[in-house]
Amino acid sequence: MLQNKRILLIISGGIAAYKCLELLRLLREQGATVRCILTKSATEFITPLSVATLSGEKVYGDLFSLTDEYGMGHIKLSRDADLLVVVPATANILARMAQGIADDLATTVLLATNKKVMAVPSMNVRMWEHAATVSNIKTLQGRGVEILGPNCGAMACGEYGEGRMVEPTEILTAIRTHFSDNSRLNGLRALVTSGPTHEPIDPVRYIANRSSGKQGHAIASALVRLGAETTLVRGPTNEPDPDGAKVIRVETACEMLKACKNALPTDIAVCAAAVSDWRIKKETSQKIKKENAELTLSLKENPDILELLSQPGNERPRLVVGFAAETSDVAEKAISKRGKKGCDWIIGNDVSPKSGTFGGDTNQVHLVTETGSESWPKMSKLEVADLLVNRIADQFRPQAPTE
Ligand code: CTP
Repeated sequence: MLQNKRILLIISGGIAAYKCLELLRLLREQGATVRCILTKSATEFITPLSVATLSGEKVYGDLFSLTDEYGMGHIKLSRDADLLVVVPATANILARMAQGIADDLATTVLLATNKKVMAVPSMNVRMWEHAATVSNIKTLQGRGVEILGPNCGAMACGEYGEGRMVEPTEILTAIRTHFSDNSRLNGLRALVTSGPTHEPIDPVRYIANRSSGKQGHAIASALVRLGAETTLVRGPTNEPDPDGAKVIRVETACEMLKACKNALPTDIAVCAAAVSDWRIKKETSQKIKKENAELTLSLKENPDILELLSQPGNERPRLVVGFAAETSDVAEKAISKRGKKGCDWIIGNDVSPKSGTFGGDTNQVHLVTETGSESWPKMSKLEVADLLVNRIADQFRPQAPTE
């Protein structure tokens, strides 16, 4: 996918610098030509030799190298690249970029470039939250720099929070998206459901499930990126609303169904929500008191949104994609669920606790279509979304084969 693409990696000095080696490998595997600039402090974390070996190119680092600068090396490095990626982007390099400081080769190239720049922040949570960094990020975004992440998680400094660099596979996805044809789904309408539903028991309690909405939200974002006019009907989740999608917030399965019906007609529907199969038969308007040692709740079945959207009729989306959340025999159960629901494709995924799918950032899925089933390797949910949406686009507008 990245054949003939020229990427300039600017590696700054953070502990996550070692992950650049994996990123380099992934980019080269996809056919990209990768040149690297290492800041002085980056060389404290990884060696120019390992970077040169993996990139198959000379590694740059010294602004005042007579041989390189003889031909205005810093200008050429930018001119020869299609995309610049600053990874990891430390608080320091982000600050220098925001201020237009050019005191080494990396920042000089960044100041001299007119190419697209992506920055992948990595730092301690307090540095990330510091007003100076917040303002620098805003400045850079205002100038068109794409900021990727950071994620929330455990950090090398022993703390926990936002500031952890996104994984190399996610950076690869963003780079591939940058180079993909972002108009493949132009003129098409898409509907996505995402997140769990909450079914009230009484005014203070509800039935829920462990869905985070990460996969559904990532699919909605990917559809927007390829140009589809996207409506996201989302149950209660902490995931931020994807930019560019029309977002409708619902709580219950019945509300989700109503919002989906209102969003029709669409060309594409992807039901990624973990809809509660049941709701309380008789919701009480008052809090249920702890009067007895036992309590029996009667449940009734919720409407099946995927099944209803898949029914033949004028408003049936041309492509309906469902998910199959299973805890065993995932591929087999996904195949039979596709038949039962009447959808076109189904994505089987393992949601047992050991898989870490619910709430996690990765997913290992089986795509079942009318022509058979295929297993995809474990990857980030962003990557699953990216691949799925490109497959959807293939269905509507096949790309001419490359030579
Ligand atoms: N789904 C739906 N409405 C429901 C239940 C499920 O739209 N009331 C959709 C989900 O969004 C998903 C697919 O149906 O795309 C399968 O959901 P899943 O939870 O795997 O299966 P169920 O249909 O609930 O069946 P079971 O719980 O028996 O596996």
